[in-house]
Amino acid sequence: MKKLKFETVFKIFENLNQLPDEEQQLMNAASAVLPEAYAPYSKFHVGAAILLENGKIVTGTNQENASFPIGLCAERIAIAAATSLYPKMKIIAIAVTIKNFNKPTLEPISPCGACRQVLLEKEQETGNSIKILMKGEGKTICKLESVSSLLPLSFGSKDLH
Ligand code: THU
Repeated sequence: MKKLKFETVFKIFENLNQLPDEEQQLMNAASAVLPEAYAPYSKFHVGAAILLENGKIVTGTNQENASFPIGLCAERIAIAAATSLYPKMKIIAIAVTIKNFNKPTLEPISPCGACRQVLLEKEQETGNSIKILMKGEGKTICKLESVSSLLPLSFGSKDLH
């Protein structure tokens, strides 16, 4: 028998100003769009901002629907917007933050499984690691250097052909 072990390294920062200017701006862009979330059902607002290789920032928010399963997460809306506006452009980083109207949620929230899968495919398609920055309603920031560490043993295009 062989055992495989995976390691995920989360870097924790006490405050946004401990990050490089570029990453501070990205998180601020994610926070700025929070009021644009349409989340009347969950009351859980999510803002995402993507930094592209050309320096552009593209944002997204979660958009829900009375037909619950068809709602979309902020991360995937931001990815779809970024890749539609700038096809094939490398994604350098994504910042995600939240406002939870159900209860105070101070700690960072990490992307759901479906968003991890979509982010991972972008990482693999363009061949560069995508940094993930996460923030809750508190000041703490959590940073990962690559999506792959959030989704070990992943399914991907390599498995199809
Ligand atoms: N949501 C996101 O936008 N991103 C995530 O990574 C987790 C969940 C949204 C989906 C739904 O509108 C609400 O948060 C509650 O699940």
